[in-house]
Amino acid sequence: MKKFIQLLPKAELHLHIEGTFEPELMFTIAQRNNIKLPYNSVEELANAYNFSCLQDFLDIYYQGASVLLTAEDFYDLTYSYLTKCYAQNVRHTEIMFDPQTHTDRGVSFETVINGISKATEDAFKNYGITSFLIMSYLRHLDEESAFKTLEQSLPFKHKIKAVGLDSSEKGNPPSKFKHVFKASVDAGYIPLAHAGEEGNADYVWEAIDLLDIKRIDHGNNSLQDERLVTEIVKRNLALTVCPLSNLALKVVSNLKEHPLKKMMNLGLKVTINSDDPAYFGGQVNKNYEAIQEALNLSKEDIYQLAQNSFQYSLLDDNTKSKYLSELDSFYNQN
Ligand code: ADE
Ligand code: ZN
Repeated sequence: MKKFIQLLPKAELHLHIEGTFEPELMFTIAQRNNIKLPYNSVEELANAYNFSCLQDFLDIYYQGASVLLTAEDFYDLTYSYLTKCYAQNVRHTEIMFDPQTHTDRGVSFETVINGISKATEDAFKNYGITSFLIMSYLRHLDEESAFKTLEQSLPFKHKIKAVGLDSSEKGNPPSKFKHVFKASVDAGYIPLAHAGEEGNADYVWEAIDLLDIKRIDHGNNSLQDERLVTEIVKRNLALTVCPLSNLALKVVSNLKEHPLKKMMNLGLKVTINSDDPAYFGGQVNKNYEAIQEALNLSKEDIYQLAQNSFQYSLLDDNTKSKYLSELDSFYNQN
């Protein structure tokens, strides 16, 4: 099964580029920029990755991201992730980035987007991997700050496919960002959002009704509300599920209790993703392996998950068909 997962063509749809920052690269970039991290070694930093909830993790994640200063830094971070994608047979990826984490420290929007997008262009040339960028608004900040970010993004609109909503969920409901999401859609961006990771089912209702999102990041707590599940199925909205993230942030206490199979049985369209792989113990293939083992998933289940990853991507129909037929011929031979 491990080999099957390794060779399976797949897409990753829920990934924060700042969450791919491996301790080794973080130390290298910190040194290059003459920034002192509050840890003496890679091991000491890695040992700090012990979280009891989302906020615990976010505090460390923002601290790590603060060593990124130049376009080269953003390039190295992104290219390093895409090289790992290549090694895992990830054909397509939809990458979130948090502009405000950087612009609030004086790094320009242009620096961030140019570094990240150059890496995606090179990964397409060198590895044939396609990528889209998702500009995510930080929900712990106010809507005015998100509007400022939207404004800054407009000269680079051709490089960005969608907008997202991430960071501290509880106390920051989707309704807080209703106007900026409307303006983002008017600017041509596809609306996506984290919902129901720590927030309850009402947050998911708001995200689908008020923000009109086209895909739900996490969505675990949708299962609290039967009517919501029916509505998500009816609207054909996929959930980007992140098993190892859910375990690391105590959304589930044990992977054997993870609701992924239940979601599939309810007719929800589910995909497997790594979220913040440097912090949660594994890239996307490790997420497939861990959940397969915990829930005893069949090859057919794994195939279905990979199929969803292409089907519910933001790709155009032609490119989806190309990837889906590649997946089918792999599945028929394995
Ligand atoms: N930012 C990075 N990872 C996140 C997650 N899992 N939830 C919310 N915001 C995030
Ligand atoms: Zn996430």
